[in-house]
Amino acid sequence: MTDASQVPSTTQFGAPAVSDRNSLSLGSNGPLLLHDVRLVETLASFNRERVPERNPHAKGSGAFGVFETTEDVTRYTKAALFQPGAKTDMLARFSTVAGEQGSPDTWRDVRGFALKFYTTEGNYDLVGNNTPVFFVRDPMKFPHFIRSQKRTPASGLRSADMQWDFWTQNPESAHQVTYLMGVRGLPRTWRHMNGYGSHTYMWVNAAGEKFWVKYHFHTEQGMEFLSNAEAEALAGSDAEFHRRDLFDAIERGEHPSWIMSVQVMPYEDAKTYRFNPFDLTKVWPHADYPLIKVGRMTLNRNPKNFFAEIEQAAFAPSNTVPGIGVSPDKMLLGRVFGYADAQRARIGTNYQQLPVNKPIVPVNDWTFDGNMTFEHSGDAPVYAPNSFGRPWADQTGPVDDGWEADGEMVRSAYTLHAEDDDFGQAGTLVREVFDDAQREQFVETVAGALGGIQHDVVLQNAFQYWKNVDKEIGDRIQAAVYAAKGDPQVGVDTEAAEEAVAVR
Ligand code: HEM
Repeated sequence: MTDASQVPSTTQFGAPAVSDRNSLSLGSNGPLLLHDVRLVETLASFNRERVPERNPHAKGSGAFGVFETTEDVTRYTKAALFQPGAKTDMLARFSTVAGEQGSPDTWRDVRGFALKFYTTEGNYDLVGNNTPVFFVRDPMKFPHFIRSQKRTPASGLRSADMQWDFWTQNPESAHQVTYLMGVRGLPRTWRHMNGYGSHTYMWVNAAGEKFWVKYHFHTEQGMEFLSNAEAEALAGSDAEFHRRDLFDAIERGEHPSWIMSVQVMPYEDAKTYRFNPFDLTKVWPHADYPLIKVGRMTLNRNPKNFFAEIEQAAFAPSNTVPGIGVSPDKMLLGRVFGYADAQRARIGTNYQQLPVNKPIVPVNDWTFDGNMTFEHSGDAPVYAPNSFGRPWADQTGPVDDGWEADGEMVRSAYTLHAEDDDFGQAGTLVREVFDDAQREQFVETVAGALGGIQHDVVLQNAFQYWKNVDKEIGDRIQAAVYAAKGDPQVGVDTEAAEEAVAVR
């Protein structure tokens, strides 16, 4: 390797640089001169070094690796990357949601689990989280949700009132908030957490049969968590704990891996399933749709340059490939618009031309020019159809990854299935998945989080929210909050709060 210190520096246009330490002045102590091109270039370029951080998921990092399909799932999908034996290069980025670039990795939060597969049929991105559900089920609510978790307009502080006000006014959040306040809210490292596609997606096989699928990535390192005290100490002593852990592990040759499985629902089942299978606040019980193993993802290569390869990486649910489609999940349909739009603004119009975002297959599309055009189609025709060898991509009629939809245009919640509700699966998580110790820790965590609330109306709504999840856990949380305040009042009148929640 070249020793960087021996390479003479140049200007941005390759001419030998005059100096990297002294600006041009009139006499040693004199004023500086505008035609010092080196100084102007140095300062001007510095002013433009940052791009806006992601809103949300600003803090994160990632690594490159490979996905290997070890099983035969050709019954369900024709996607090239999921054919038996296929090995596909990939990139993963893990993140927190609410914190900014410099925020500590160990704040309690959902973790992003974003994957980009460089397949032989174009890029496939699966942009998921470390939890199988989400806070809301309509994309209209997403910006409100994110703002409620970020900072208040006046003080610029984060606010328990704002967070809990949003969650309790949107009771469909209960399942995800239960996950968040449980052990999964504090994974020990990114290597020790599972990942989920969360949404329901569509798979299509070579015969054109369609299936609904949910993706699961189970860590082969085992699930491990931090305690509240450990996370708090790390937030102060090593804000980059998770970023460092992944980078160092890969440098040591310890390559983390995850087993990918899917739950598969036959296409027709969705119409009559006992709850809405496209509702992102719900999981599909494994008893109904068991896990089917697909393959293994292994991360084995660190980025060489964080900015170019991680900060400028653009993951988008709109990047699908043949054999994989989206679904009627409204959140997913909103996301299909949101990401590429954010990336055009955050990185720039031609962000798809950057090496980290560029597919490994040739691109032959009908978008042209714009800021920073690098790849181009030379003098090829720019309109279609034409008589010069660039025809329409001629696919009309039904699409193979579509579904039937009909009806009047409305603004409304999903039509209810027999067992649709906001609190049922959250209650099951508390009662049947958490053990006694985890329930105890859960009460402590929620009570601690509610302790920061200033407005009684928000606090009372929060008590009711948890009682709706599980009466006993709600009572315990309420008692713990009042005990921490040194207030003997445990049996508060929650009638008003009950009514408030009931009318929503
Ligand atoms: C990042 C929007 C829901 C996971 C982002 C970004 C936007 C966004 C604009 C920043 C993209 C960028 O600048 O590169 C939305 C909207 C949603 C939504 C509008 C709902 C309608 C979700 C859900 C999940 C999720 C349900 C997980 C299941 C992520 C992840 C990232 C991200 C992991 C970070 C990607 C990366 O590492 O670059 N989201 N999001 N989001 N979102 Fe969402």
